[in-house]
Amino acid sequence: MHGNENRGEAFSGRGPFRQSGRFGRLFPELQSLESFTPGSAALGAAQGPMDGGNPGLGDTTQNNPRIRAGYTFLGQFIDHDITLDVTSSLEQENDPDAVENFRTPALELDSVYGLGPALQPYLYDRERSFRFLLGDEGNDLPRNSQGCALIGDLRNDENLIISQLHLLFLKFHNKVFDNHTNSNLPLDKRFAEAQRIVRWHYQWIVVHEFLPRILGTNTTARLFRDKPLQFPGRPFMPLEFSVAAYRFGHSQVRPGYLIGTRGAALFPPPPAPGQPPSAPGLADLRGFRPVPPELVVDWAKFFGPPSTAQDSKLVDTKLSTVLLQLPDGVVAPGTPGALRSLAVRNLQRGIALKLPSGQRVASRLGVPNALTSTEIWSGVPNGEGEAPLWFYILKEAKVRASGRRLAGVGAEIVGGVFQALLSADKASFLAQNPSWMPTLPSTHPGRFTMTDLINLTLNSKLSDENVLDLPSDD
Ligand code: HEM
Repeated sequence: MHGNENRGEAFSGRGPFRQSGRFGRLFPELQSLESFTPGSAALGAAQGPMDGGNPGLGDTTQNNPRIRAGYTFLGQFIDHDITLDVTSSLEQENDPDAVENFRTPALELDSVYGLGPALQPYLYDRERSFRFLLGDEGNDLPRNSQGCALIGDLRNDENLIISQLHLLFLKFHNKVFDNHTNSNLPLDKRFAEAQRIVRWHYQWIVVHEFLPRILGTNTTARLFRDKPLQFPGRPFMPLEFSVAAYRFGHSQVRPGYLIGTRGAALFPPPPAPGQPPSAPGLADLRGFRPVPPELVVDWAKFFGPPSTAQDSKLVDTKLSTVLLQLPDGVVAPGTPGALRSLAVRNLQRGIALKLPSGQRVASRLGVPNALTSTEIWSGVPNGEGEAPLWFYILKEAKVRASGRRLAGVGAEIVGGVFQALLSADKASFLAQNPSWMPTLPSTHPGRFTMTDLINLTLNSKLSDENVLDLPSDD
Protein backbone atom coordinates (compact mmCIF):
# COMPACT_ATOMS: atom_id res chain seq x y z
CA MET A 1 0.00 0.00 0.00
CA HIS A 2 1.13 3.55 -0.67
CA GLY A 3 -0.16 6.40 1.41
CA ASN A 4 -2.04 4.67 4.19
CA GLU A 5 -1.26 3.41 7.60
CA ASN A 6 -0.66 -0.23 6.63
CA ARG A 7 1.98 0.64 4.09
CA GLY A 8 5.35 -0.88 4.93
CA GLU A 9 4.16 -3.22 7.67
CA ALA A 10 6.76 -5.67 6.46
CA PHE A 11 9.64 -3.34 7.21
CA SER A 12 9.50 -3.18 10.98
CA GLY A 13 12.60 -5.31 11.54
CA ARG A 14 16.08 -3.85 11.88
CA GLY A 15 19.17 -5.39 10.43
CA PRO A 16 22.76 -4.80 9.49
CA PHE A 17 21.84 -3.49 6.04
CA ARG A 18 19.45 -0.83 7.26
CA GLN A 19 18.74 1.27 10.27
CA SER A 20 15.48 3.12 10.17
CA GLY A 21 15.85 6.79 10.98
CA ARG A 22 13.80 9.66 12.27
CA PHE A 23 12.31 12.46 10.37
CA GLY A 24 13.46 15.92 11.40
CA ARG A 25 13.14 19.55 10.41
CA LEU A 26 15.38 21.92 8.50
CA PHE A 27 13.76 25.00 9.99
CA PRO A 28 12.49 24.07 13.48
CA GLU A 29 12.43 27.72 14.46
CA LEU A 30 9.78 28.63 11.88
CA GLN A 31 6.15 28.82 12.90
CA SER A 32 4.01 26.13 11.30
CA LEU A 33 1.11 26.85 8.97
CA GLU A 34 -1.99 25.67 10.80
CA SER A 35 -4.51 26.44 8.08
CA PHE A 36 -4.73 28.39 4.86
CA THR A 37 -7.35 29.88 2.58
CA PRO A 38 -9.01 28.25 0.62
CA GLY A 39 -8.01 25.01 2.47
CA SER A 40 -6.76 21.59 1.31
CA ALA A 41 -10.09 20.22 0.10
CA ALA A 42 -10.93 23.23 -2.08
CA LEU A 43 -7.41 23.60 -3.48
CA GLY A 44 -6.58 19.95 -4.15
CA ALA A 45 -9.87 18.35 -5.20
CA ALA A 46 -10.59 16.86 -8.62
CA GLN A 47 -12.05 19.67 -10.75
CA GLY A 48 -10.47 22.22 -8.41
CA PRO A 49 -7.71 24.74 -9.23
CA MET A 50 -4.96 22.07 -9.19
CA ASP A 51 -6.72 19.69 -11.59
CA GLY A 52 -4.71 19.59 -14.82
CA GLY A 53 -7.11 17.27 -16.67
CA ASN A 54 -6.07 14.17 -18.55
CA PRO A 55 -4.69 15.40 -21.88
CA GLY A 56 -4.27 12.64 -24.49
CA LEU A 57 -0.92 11.26 -25.63
CA GLY A 58 -0.82 13.56 -28.66
CA ASP A 59 -1.44 16.73 -26.62
CA THR A 60 1.88 18.52 -26.09
CA THR A 61 0.61 21.64 -24.33
CA GLN A 62 1.86 20.49 -20.91
CA ASN A 63 5.13 18.96 -22.15
CA ASN A 64 8.43 19.81 -20.47
CA PRO A 65 11.17 19.33 -23.09
CA ARG A 66 13.89 19.78 -20.44
CA ILE A 67 12.95 16.61 -18.53
CA ARG A 68 12.16 13.35 -20.31
CA ALA A 69 9.45 11.11 -18.88
CA GLY A 70 11.90 8.55 -17.50
CA TYR A 71 13.17 11.00 -14.89
CA THR A 72 9.71 11.19 -13.30
CA PHE A 73 9.90 7.51 -12.44
CA LEU A 74 13.58 7.65 -11.57
CA GLY A 75 12.54 10.45 -9.17
CA GLN A 76 9.86 8.22 -7.64
CA PHE A 77 12.33 5.33 -7.42
CA ILE A 78 14.84 7.59 -5.59
CA ASP A 79 12.08 8.74 -3.25
CA HIS A 80 11.39 5.12 -2.30
CA ASP A 81 15.08 4.62 -1.56
CA ILE A 82 15.25 7.42 1.00
CA THR A 83 11.88 8.06 2.60
CA LEU A 84 8.94 5.98 3.83
CA ASP A 85 6.46 7.36 6.31
CA VAL A 86 4.02 4.72 7.51
CA THR A 87 3.15 6.23 10.84
CA SER A 88 1.81 9.77 10.37
CA SER A 89 -1.92 10.29 10.28
CA LEU A 90 -3.61 12.48 7.69
CA GLU A 91 -6.49 13.51 9.90
CA GLN A 92 -4.65 14.82 12.94
CA GLU A 93 -1.53 16.75 13.84
CA ASN A 94 1.56 14.60 14.22
CA ASP A 95 4.63 14.96 16.34
CA PRO A 96 7.43 14.90 13.75
CA ASP A 97 9.85 13.57 16.35
CA ALA A 98 7.69 10.50 16.71
CA VAL A 99 7.34 9.80 12.99
CA GLU A 100 9.59 7.00 11.85
CA ASN A 101 11.34 6.87 8.49
CA PHE A 102 11.33 3.20 7.47
CA ARG A 103 14.07 3.88 4.93
CA THR A 104 17.63 4.92 5.65
CA PRO A 105 18.08 8.54 4.58
CA ALA A 106 20.91 7.49 2.26
CA LEU A 107 21.18 6.75 -1.46
CA GLU A 108 22.13 3.11 -0.96
CA LEU A 109 19.19 1.30 -2.54
CA ASP A 110 17.84 -0.41 0.56
CA SER A 111 14.57 -0.48 -1.40
CA VAL A 112 16.33 -2.87 -3.80
CA TYR A 113 18.76 -4.83 -1.60
CA GLY A 114 16.33 -5.14 1.33
CA LEU A 115 18.04 -6.56 4.38
CA GLY A 116 20.43 -8.54 2.20
CA PRO A 117 20.69 -12.21 1.11
CA ALA A 118 20.98 -13.59 4.65
CA LEU A 119 17.89 -11.87 6.08
CA GLN A 120 15.67 -11.61 3.00
CA PRO A 121 16.80 -14.64 0.96
CA TYR A 122 13.55 -14.69 -1.05
CA LEU A 123 14.74 -11.58 -2.92
CA TYR A 124 17.79 -13.48 -4.19
CA ASP A 125 18.37 -16.35 -6.61
CA ARG A 126 19.20 -19.62 -4.81
CA GLU A 127 20.78 -21.07 -7.91
CA ARG A 128 22.86 -18.01 -8.70
CA SER A 129 23.97 -16.84 -5.27
CA PHE A 130 24.05 -13.13 -4.52
CA ARG A 131 22.19 -12.28 -7.73
CA PHE A 132 18.60 -11.12 -7.63
CA LEU A 133 15.78 -13.47 -8.46
CA LEU A 134 13.88 -12.34 -11.59
CA GLY A 135 10.39 -13.32 -12.76
CA ASP A 136 8.87 -14.33 -16.09
CA GLU A 137 12.13 -15.05 -17.92
CA GLY A 138 13.53 -11.70 -16.91
CA ASN A 139 10.59 -9.59 -18.13
CA ASP A 140 8.99 -9.05 -14.73
CA LEU A 141 9.70 -8.83 -11.03
CA PRO A 142 9.68 -12.10 -9.10
CA ARG A 143 6.19 -12.68 -7.69
CA ASN A 144 4.46 -15.08 -5.35
CA SER A 145 1.65 -17.35 -6.55
CA GLN A 146 -0.84 -14.51 -6.09
CA GLY A 147 1.10 -12.00 -8.17
CA CYS A 148 2.53 -10.02 -5.23
CA ALA A 149 6.05 -8.76 -6.03
CA LEU A 150 8.94 -10.12 -3.94
CA ILE A 151 10.96 -6.92 -3.69
CA GLY A 152 12.53 -4.66 -1.06
CA ASP A 153 9.82 -1.96 -1.23
CA LEU A 154 6.33 -2.78 -2.42
CA ARG A 155 5.77 0.80 -3.54
CA ASN A 156 8.05 -0.06 -6.46
CA ASP A 157 5.25 -2.20 -7.89
CA GLU A 158 2.62 0.53 -7.69
CA ASN A 159 2.56 1.21 -11.41
CA LEU A 160 4.07 -0.79 -14.26
CA ILE A 161 6.70 1.82 -15.12
CA ILE A 162 8.29 1.96 -11.68
CA SER A 163 7.93 -1.81 -11.46
CA GLN A 164 9.94 -2.20 -14.69
CA LEU A 165 12.49 0.35 -13.43
CA HIS A 166 12.98 -1.71 -10.26
CA LEU A 167 13.49 -4.75 -12.50
CA LEU A 168 16.12 -2.81 -14.47
CA PHE A 169 18.06 -2.18 -11.25
CA LEU A 170 17.82 -5.86 -10.25
CA LYS A 171 19.31 -6.78 -13.62
CA PHE A 172 21.92 -4.02 -13.35
CA HIS A 173 23.16 -5.54 -10.09
CA ASN A 174 23.24 -9.01 -11.66
CA LYS A 175 25.16 -7.73 -14.66
CA VAL A 176 27.69 -5.88 -12.50
CA PHE A 177 28.11 -8.95 -10.28
CA ASP A 178 28.66 -11.27 -13.27
CA ASN A 179 30.85 -9.09 -15.47
CA HIS A 180 32.44 -6.35 -13.39
CA THR A 181 33.58 -7.92 -10.13
CA ASN A 182 36.60 -10.06 -9.45
CA SER A 183 35.51 -13.70 -9.81
CA ASN A 184 38.44 -14.81 -7.61
CA LEU A 185 36.92 -13.11 -4.58
CA PRO A 186 34.74 -15.09 -2.13
CA LEU A 187 31.06 -14.69 -3.09
CA ASP A 188 30.14 -12.45 -0.16
CA LYS A 189 33.04 -10.09 -0.95
CA ARG A 190 32.03 -10.09 -4.61
CA PHE A 191 28.50 -9.14 -3.53
CA ALA A 192 29.80 -6.23 -1.43
CA GLU A 193 31.91 -5.08 -4.37
CA ALA A 194 28.94 -5.29 -6.78
CA GLN A 195 26.81 -3.30 -4.32
CA ARG A 196 29.44 -0.58 -4.06
CA ILE A 197 29.77 -0.30 -7.83
CA VAL A 198 25.98 -0.22 -8.32
CA ARG A 199 25.49 2.35 -5.55
CA TRP A 200 28.26 4.67 -6.67
CA HIS A 201 27.12 4.67 -10.32
CA TYR A 202 23.53 5.31 -9.20
CA GLN A 203 24.73 8.16 -6.96
CA TRP A 204 26.72 9.58 -9.86
CA ILE A 205 23.56 9.57 -12.00
CA VAL A 206 21.69 11.42 -9.24
CA VAL A 207 24.38 14.11 -8.88
CA HIS A 208 25.38 14.56 -12.51
CA GLU A 209 22.25 13.75 -14.48
CA PHE A 210 19.07 13.81 -12.38
CA LEU A 211 19.66 16.91 -10.23
CA PRO A 212 21.00 19.13 -13.05
CA ARG A 213 17.82 18.31 -15.00
CA ILE A 214 15.41 19.10 -12.19
CA LEU A 215 17.27 22.02 -10.53
CA GLY A 216 19.59 23.44 -13.16
CA THR A 217 23.27 22.77 -13.77
CA ASN A 218 24.58 25.92 -12.09
CA THR A 219 22.37 25.53 -9.02
CA THR A 220 23.41 21.90 -8.58
CA ALA A 221 27.10 22.75 -8.92
CA ARG A 222 26.77 25.63 -6.43
CA LEU A 223 24.94 23.52 -3.81
CA PHE A 224 27.51 20.70 -4.03
CA ARG A 225 30.38 23.19 -3.83
CA ASP A 226 29.05 25.39 -1.00
CA LYS A 227 27.28 22.62 0.99
CA PRO A 228 24.76 24.99 2.65
CA LEU A 229 23.00 22.17 4.50
CA GLN A 230 24.84 19.82 6.82
CA PHE A 231 23.46 17.46 9.42
CA PRO A 232 24.76 18.34 12.88
CA GLY A 233 24.78 14.67 13.91
CA ARG A 234 23.18 11.53 12.55
CA PRO A 235 21.44 12.30 9.23
CA PHE A 236 17.64 12.36 9.19
CA MET A 237 14.95 12.86 6.59
CA PRO A 238 13.80 16.50 6.63
CA LEU A 239 10.02 16.83 6.50
CA GLU A 240 10.29 19.99 4.41
CA PHE A 241 11.82 17.69 1.75
CA SER A 242 9.67 14.56 2.06
CA VAL A 243 6.32 16.22 2.67
CA ALA A 244 6.72 19.26 0.40
CA ALA A 245 9.71 19.94 -1.85
CA TYR A 246 10.38 16.44 -3.19
CA ARG A 247 6.69 15.85 -3.83
CA PHE A 248 7.15 18.27 -6.75
CA GLY A 249 7.39 15.08 -8.82
CA HIS A 250 3.65 14.56 -8.54
CA SER A 251 3.14 17.43 -10.96
CA GLN A 252 5.47 15.79 -13.53
CA VAL A 253 3.26 12.73 -13.93
CA ARG A 254 1.38 12.46 -17.23
CA PRO A 255 -2.01 10.77 -17.28
CA GLY A 256 -0.74 8.16 -19.73
CA TYR A 257 2.43 6.98 -21.46
CA LEU A 258 3.55 5.35 -24.64
CA ILE A 259 5.01 2.09 -23.37
CA GLY A 260 6.08 -0.07 -26.26
CA THR A 261 4.15 0.06 -29.46
CA ARG A 262 0.98 1.08 -27.67
CA GLY A 263 -0.11 3.77 -25.23
CA ALA A 264 -1.71 3.15 -21.87
CA ALA A 265 -3.26 5.30 -19.15
CA LEU A 266 -1.51 5.39 -15.80
CA PHE A 267 -4.67 4.80 -13.79
CA PRO A 268 -8.15 4.26 -15.23
CA PRO A 269 -11.06 6.53 -14.28
CA PRO A 270 -12.75 5.56 -11.00
CA PRO A 271 -15.74 3.19 -11.26
CA ALA A 272 -19.27 4.68 -11.25
CA PRO A 273 -20.75 4.86 -7.74
CA GLY A 274 -21.74 1.40 -6.53
CA GLN A 275 -19.72 -0.37 -9.26
CA PRO A 276 -16.69 -2.58 -8.48
CA PRO A 277 -13.29 -1.43 -9.78
CA SER A 278 -12.44 -2.70 -13.26
CA ALA A 279 -9.82 -5.43 -13.62
CA PRO A 280 -6.54 -3.96 -14.95
CA GLY A 281 -6.18 -4.58 -18.67
CA LEU A 282 -3.75 -3.77 -21.44
CA ALA A 283 -4.72 -0.10 -21.57
CA ASP A 284 -3.82 0.68 -17.99
CA LEU A 285 -0.61 0.84 -16.04
CA ARG A 286 -1.84 -0.16 -12.61
CA GLY A 287 0.74 -2.23 -10.84
CA PHE A 288 0.61 -4.94 -8.17
CA ARG A 289 0.14 -7.58 -10.88
CA PRO A 290 2.27 -9.53 -13.36
CA VAL A 291 3.37 -7.33 -16.23
CA PRO A 292 1.62 -8.35 -19.46
CA PRO A 293 4.17 -8.88 -22.30
CA GLU A 294 2.51 -6.06 -24.28
CA LEU A 295 3.33 -3.60 -21.47
CA VAL A 296 7.01 -4.44 -21.03
CA VAL A 297 8.63 -1.00 -21.09
CA ASP A 298 10.70 0.14 -24.07
CA TRP A 299 13.22 2.41 -22.32
CA ALA A 300 13.89 4.37 -25.52
CA LYS A 301 10.45 5.93 -24.90
CA PHE A 302 11.61 7.17 -21.48
CA PHE A 303 15.37 7.78 -21.60
CA GLY A 304 16.16 7.75 -25.32
CA PRO A 305 17.10 10.82 -27.36
CA PRO A 306 14.43 13.51 -27.84
CA SER A 307 13.37 11.91 -31.12
CA THR A 308 12.13 8.77 -29.33
CA ALA A 309 11.55 9.72 -25.68
CA GLN A 310 8.37 11.38 -24.43
CA ASP A 311 8.59 14.49 -22.29
CA SER A 312 7.46 14.70 -18.69
CA LYS A 313 4.67 17.06 -17.72
CA LEU A 314 5.59 20.60 -16.65
CA VAL A 315 6.42 21.24 -13.01
CA ASP A 316 3.53 23.51 -12.05
CA THR A 317 0.49 23.68 -9.81
CA LYS A 318 -1.52 21.26 -11.96
CA LEU A 319 -1.69 17.51 -11.34
CA SER A 320 -3.07 15.05 -13.89
CA THR A 321 -6.62 14.12 -12.93
CA VAL A 322 -5.59 10.45 -12.59
CA LEU A 323 -3.65 11.45 -9.47
CA LEU A 324 -6.66 13.17 -7.96
CA GLN A 325 -8.66 9.92 -8.09
CA LEU A 326 -6.16 7.34 -6.80
CA PRO A 327 -7.30 3.72 -7.13
CA ASP A 328 -7.33 0.99 -4.48
CA GLY A 329 -3.87 -0.40 -3.97
CA VAL A 330 -2.30 3.04 -4.17
CA VAL A 331 -4.58 4.03 -1.29
CA ALA A 332 -6.42 1.66 1.06
CA PRO A 333 -9.75 0.24 -0.13
CA GLY A 334 -12.56 2.25 1.45
CA THR A 335 -10.59 5.53 1.38
CA PRO A 336 -13.16 8.34 1.00
CA GLY A 337 -13.22 10.17 -2.34
CA ALA A 338 -11.66 13.39 -1.02
CA LEU A 339 -8.59 11.54 0.30
CA ARG A 340 -8.07 9.82 -3.04
CA SER A 341 -6.70 13.12 -4.31
CA LEU A 342 -2.92 13.11 -4.05
CA ALA A 343 -2.99 16.92 -3.92
CA VAL A 344 -5.35 16.89 -0.92
CA ARG A 345 -3.17 14.26 0.76
CA ASN A 346 0.00 16.29 0.23
CA LEU A 347 -1.61 19.51 1.50
CA GLN A 348 -3.17 17.80 4.49
CA ARG A 349 0.04 15.94 5.34
CA GLY A 350 1.86 19.31 5.34
CA ILE A 351 -0.59 20.71 7.89
CA ALA A 352 -0.60 17.52 10.01
CA LEU A 353 3.21 17.53 10.14
CA LYS A 354 3.31 21.22 10.97
CA LEU A 355 5.31 22.53 8.04
CA PRO A 356 5.97 26.27 7.78
CA SER A 357 4.47 28.26 4.89
CA GLY A 358 6.32 28.78 1.63
CA GLN A 359 6.69 32.50 2.35
CA ARG A 360 8.34 31.87 5.72
CA VAL A 361 10.84 29.44 4.21
CA ALA A 362 11.59 31.82 1.31
CA SER A 363 12.30 34.60 3.78
CA ARG A 364 14.40 32.32 6.04
CA LEU A 365 16.50 31.16 3.06
CA GLY A 366 16.70 34.68 1.71
CA VAL A 367 15.88 33.52 -1.81
CA PRO A 368 16.06 36.41 -4.25
CA ASN A 369 12.83 37.15 -6.04
CA ALA A 370 10.46 35.43 -3.60
CA LEU A 371 6.91 35.09 -4.91
CA THR A 372 4.40 37.82 -4.15
CA SER A 373 0.98 36.94 -2.80
CA THR A 374 -0.57 37.84 -6.17
CA GLU A 375 1.81 35.48 -7.96
CA ILE A 376 1.19 32.66 -5.50
CA TRP A 377 -2.57 32.79 -5.56
CA SER A 378 -3.29 33.73 -9.18
CA GLY A 379 -5.78 31.23 -10.59
CA VAL A 380 -6.98 30.11 -7.14
CA PRO A 381 -10.43 31.42 -6.19
CA ASN A 382 -10.33 32.93 -2.66
CA GLY A 383 -6.64 32.10 -2.29
CA GLU A 384 -4.83 34.54 -0.01
CA GLY A 385 -2.22 34.83 2.71
CA GLU A 386 0.38 32.27 3.65
CA ALA A 387 0.63 29.27 1.32
CA PRO A 388 1.49 25.60 1.94
CA LEU A 389 5.17 24.93 1.22
CA TRP A 390 4.42 22.27 -1.43
CA PHE A 391 2.06 24.58 -3.34
CA TYR A 392 4.49 27.51 -3.08
CA ILE A 393 7.31 25.40 -4.57
CA LEU A 394 5.15 24.28 -7.50
CA LYS A 395 4.06 27.85 -8.20
CA GLU A 396 7.65 29.04 -7.97
CA ALA A 397 8.70 26.46 -10.61
CA LYS A 398 5.93 27.66 -12.89
CA VAL A 399 6.45 31.40 -12.44
CA ARG A 400 10.26 31.57 -12.10
CA ALA A 401 11.29 28.70 -14.40
CA SER A 402 8.33 28.39 -16.81
CA GLY A 403 7.55 24.97 -15.32
CA ARG A 404 10.77 23.49 -16.72
CA ARG A 405 12.50 22.86 -13.37
CA LEU A 406 12.47 23.76 -9.68
CA ALA A 407 13.55 27.29 -8.70
CA GLY A 408 14.29 29.26 -5.49
CA VAL A 409 13.03 27.50 -2.35
CA GLY A 410 12.31 24.19 -4.12
CA ALA A 411 15.77 23.99 -5.68
CA GLU A 412 17.53 24.96 -2.43
CA ILE A 413 15.72 22.32 -0.39
CA VAL A 414 15.89 19.47 -2.92
CA GLY A 415 19.51 20.07 -3.96
CA GLY A 416 20.65 20.94 -0.45
CA VAL A 417 19.15 17.78 1.05
CA PHE A 418 20.61 15.46 -1.61
CA GLN A 419 24.00 17.05 -1.05
CA ALA A 420 23.70 16.71 2.73
CA LEU A 421 22.51 13.09 2.56
CA LEU A 422 25.36 12.07 0.26
CA SER A 423 27.99 13.92 2.29
CA ALA A 424 26.74 12.37 5.55
CA ASP A 425 26.75 8.83 4.17
CA LYS A 426 30.26 7.60 4.96
CA ALA A 427 29.99 4.92 2.27
CA SER A 428 28.97 7.27 -0.57
CA PHE A 429 31.40 8.09 -3.35
CA LEU A 430 31.19 11.73 -2.32
CA ALA A 431 32.40 10.95 1.21
CA GLN A 432 34.92 8.28 0.23
CA ASN A 433 36.39 9.75 -2.91
CA PRO A 434 34.83 12.99 -4.17
CA SER A 435 36.89 12.98 -7.36
CA TRP A 436 35.81 9.41 -8.24
CA MET A 437 34.70 8.91 -11.86
CA PRO A 438 32.46 6.11 -13.11
CA THR A 439 34.34 2.97 -14.08
CA LEU A 440 31.68 0.95 -15.90
CA PRO A 441 31.64 0.96 -19.71
CA SER A 442 29.78 3.99 -21.07
CA THR A 443 29.43 5.98 -24.28
CA HIS A 444 31.69 8.68 -22.86
CA PRO A 445 34.34 7.16 -20.56
CA GLY A 446 34.34 8.78 -17.13
CA ARG A 447 30.62 9.59 -17.32
CA PHE A 448 27.65 7.34 -16.65
CA THR A 449 24.03 8.08 -17.48
CA MET A 450 20.72 6.25 -17.26
CA THR A 451 21.17 5.52 -20.95
CA ASP A 452 24.50 3.85 -20.21
CA LEU A 453 22.91 1.87 -17.38
CA ILE A 454 20.19 0.64 -19.75
CA ASN A 455 22.66 -0.19 -22.54
CA LEU A 456 25.01 -2.04 -20.19
CA THR A 457 22.21 -3.97 -18.53
CA LEU A 458 20.10 -4.84 -21.55
CA ASN A 459 22.80 -4.92 -24.25
CA SER A 460 20.90 -2.17 -26.08
CA LYS A 461 22.30 0.71 -28.10
CA LEU A 462 20.33 3.76 -27.02
CA SER A 463 21.95 7.05 -27.92
CA ASP A 464 22.70 9.34 -24.97
CA GLU A 465 22.93 12.37 -27.22
CA ASN A 466 22.87 15.59 -25.14
CA VAL A 467 21.96 13.75 -21.95
CA LEU A 468 24.47 15.60 -19.78
CA ASP A 469 24.94 18.70 -21.85
CA LEU A 470 22.42 21.14 -20.51
CA PRO A 471 23.13 24.60 -21.86
CA SER A 472 22.18 26.54 -18.72
CA ASP A 473 19.65 26.74 -15.94
CA ASP A 474 16.88 27.76 -18.39
C1 HEM B 1 2.73 7.57 -10.64
C2 HEM B 1 3.34 8.36 -9.88
C3 HEM B 1 3.14 8.56 -8.40
C4 HEM B 1 2.13 8.18 -7.57
C5 HEM B 1 0.87 7.42 -7.92
C6 HEM B 1 2.48 8.63 -6.24
C7 HEM B 1 1.70 8.43 -5.13
C8 HEM B 1 2.04 8.79 -3.85
C9 HEM B 1 1.25 8.59 -2.68
C10 HEM B 1 -0.14 7.96 -2.65
C11 HEM B 1 1.94 9.04 -1.62
C12 HEM B 1 1.51 9.07 -0.15
C13 HEM B 1 0.75 10.39 0.05
C14 HEM B 1 0.37 10.63 1.50
O1 HEM B 1 -0.50 9.92 1.99
O2 HEM B 1 0.95 11.54 2.12
C15 HEM B 1 3.19 9.53 -2.11
C16 HEM B 1 4.19 10.04 -1.31
C17 HEM B 1 5.33 10.59 -1.80
N1 HEM B 1 5.67 10.76 -3.13
FE1 HEM B 1 4.67 10.06 -4.71
N2 HEM B 1 3.68 9.26 -6.29
C18 HEM B 1 4.11 9.25 -7.59
C19 HEM B 1 5.27 9.80 -8.08
C20 HEM B 1 6.18 10.50 -7.33
C21 HEM B 1 7.33 11.19 -7.85
C22 HEM B 1 7.68 11.27 -9.34
C23 HEM B 1 7.98 11.75 -6.79
C24 HEM B 1 9.24 12.60 -6.74
C25 HEM B 1 10.02 12.84 -7.75
C26 HEM B 1 7.22 11.40 -5.60
C27 HEM B 1 7.56 11.77 -4.32
C28 HEM B 1 6.87 11.40 -3.18
C29 HEM B 1 7.34 11.64 -1.82
C30 HEM B 1 8.64 12.32 -1.40
C31 HEM B 1 6.39 11.10 -0.97
C32 HEM B 1 6.49 10.98 0.56
C33 HEM B 1 7.08 9.60 0.86
C34 HEM B 1 7.18 9.25 2.34
O3 HEM B 1 7.87 9.95 3.08
O4 HEM B 1 6.56 8.23 2.75
N3 HEM B 1 6.16 10.64 -5.96
N4 HEM B 1 3.23 9.39 -3.47
